[in-house]
Amino acid sequence: MNPYNERRTALRKTPRRWLVTGAAGFIGSNLVSALLELDQHVLGLDNFVTGHRHNLDAIRLGAGGRAANFEFVEADICDLDACRRACEGIDFVLHQAALGSVPWSVADPLESNRTNVDGFLNMLVAARDAGVKRMVYASSSAVYGDDPAESKVEAQTGRLLSPYAASKAIDECYGQAFYCTYGFESIGLRYFNVFGPRQDPNGAYAAVIPRWIAELLEGKACTIYGDGLTSRDFCLVDNVVQANILSALAPKAALTPGVFNVAVGERTTLNGLYGAIRSSLAKTTPEVGTLEPLYEGFRLGDIRHSLADISAAKASLGYSPTTDLQADLDSVIGWYIADYESRPHRPHPPLPSGRRGE
Ligand SMILES: NC(=O)c1ccc[n+]([C@@H]2O[C@H](COP(=O)([O-])OP(=O)(O)OC[C@H]3O[C@@H](n4cnc5c(N)ncnc54)[C@H](O)[C@@H]3O)[C@@H](O)[C@H]2O)c1
Repeated sequence: MNPYNERRTALRKTPRRWLVTGAAGFIGSNLVSALLELDQHVLGLDNFVTGHRHNLDAIRLGAGGRAANFEFVEADICDLDACRRACEGIDFVLHQAALGSVPWSVADPLESNRTNVDGFLNMLVAARDAGVKRMVYASSSAVYGDDPAESKVEAQTGRLLSPYAASKAIDECYGQAFYCTYGFESIGLRYFNVFGPRQDPNGAYAAVIPRWIAELLEGKACTIYGDGLTSRDFCLVDNVVQANILSALAPKAALTPGVFNVAVGERTTLNGLYGAIRSSLAKTTPEVGTLEPLYEGFRLGDIRHSLADISAAKASLGYSPTTDLQADLDSVIGWYIADYESRPHRPHPPLPSGRRGE
């Protein structure tokens, strides 16, 4: 049995109590659903600054009879007392709540720091004092900054290029310091470009996927900035869920160094991503099959390549992600289409085959 299946079997036998912060967001809501599916007891916490109540409804609907194992508290992680109350009786914290937008952090570094650093520290203190066994938290590939390495390894990072990146790097420092000072266990996961159900089309990451899907369904040509050879490591949210559960239950050896890349470890160019999205959509909407992208100049500040080395997560956590982007997109395309169609002002139906929108 692979490590993930082993862990899941163990959890089903002995259910635990989990706190998921950012539970109304994209990744947090997927974590809650996966835990409920494993018969776990979950408390979700969110202040809805970027999360949505409809994600909580989707959690409950999807959980069926297990929805009774889900509780939710509307609270702000900047409120230490609220964090303390939420941590009471909790075995594991999966801390996802943060302001994830780089431009937001550039415009308002104090607010970014308040949530991503002060709020993070509140969670560490509250979890430590409540006797939580371990906190797994969302870090980001942003901590690599301008590191020139083709494939990012955890021990080598570059200069931090935004207040957001700085906030995540500081979180990692605090995680480490709490282990060395108080013996409090935490593991930071550096997510790369995550996609999947409940991804906010206006969200900070991989928004290119919902945006291109919407444009293709509208019969418009998608814009690729640059030559299309810019690449990213696109990662299905199920892999992020897997990394969180494995990290919570990993042996203590994983606590040093305590941070891991979470990605697929495969390079996908924007041209490749466009082709994969188009062929996924063409299965139900054949008209999109002939739409070609438009190319515009490179955007200032765009990183050329972002690829993760995931060997540490594989070795220390037993992480084993899905690696077929086309299959992963095919598995979630229905959700993206339904989400697009549910939006209020859908501009117009697909254009006839071969025509390009503006
Ligand atoms: N999605 C990605 O590709 C990606 C990549 C790297 C890192 N991350 C990190 O993963 C985590 C989850 O990201 P996501 O994509 O699900 O974003 P998201 O915006 O969908 O989720 C974040 C959630 O945190 C909540 N939140 C924010 N501030 C809060 C506060 N002060 N108190 C309580 N709740 C608060 C928001 O309302 C939201 O529901 C974040 O920490 C983000 O920085 C995400």
